[in-house]
Amino acid sequence: MENTLRHIYIGNLSEMPKKLGKTATIGNKEIAVFTLENGEIRAIENRCPHKGGVLAEGIVSGDYVFCPMHDWKICLSDGNVQAPDKGCVQTYPVEVIEDQLFIILKDE
Ligand code: FES
Repeated sequence: MENTLRHIYIGNLSEMPKKLGKTATIGNKEIAVFTLENGEIRAIENRCPHKGGVLAEGIVSGDYVFCPMHDWKICLSDGNVQAPDKGCVQTYPVEVIEDQLFIILKDE
């Protein structure tokens, strides 16, 4: 079976806060979108695998976000929790077309 890709517009790049998360709700998914210091965009599931902390409210440092609840460190590129903790979150590809920011989702 073929999966269709959907581009979901979530806002303009120029209006995204730097080094802070923005929450995008798409259907039943809540996605945390971050603009890194170098201007790159990352999108991950907005729920910490530990106890459900809201990652969009975490502190961003380089390519990582620190969960606001108990400080787990999560890589924004691959979603992996950094040792000594374990787990991972879903990551989502993003695309910027002119100033418009899209998250790319597979139809399930
Ligand atoms: S809920 Fe995220 S570190 Fe505990």
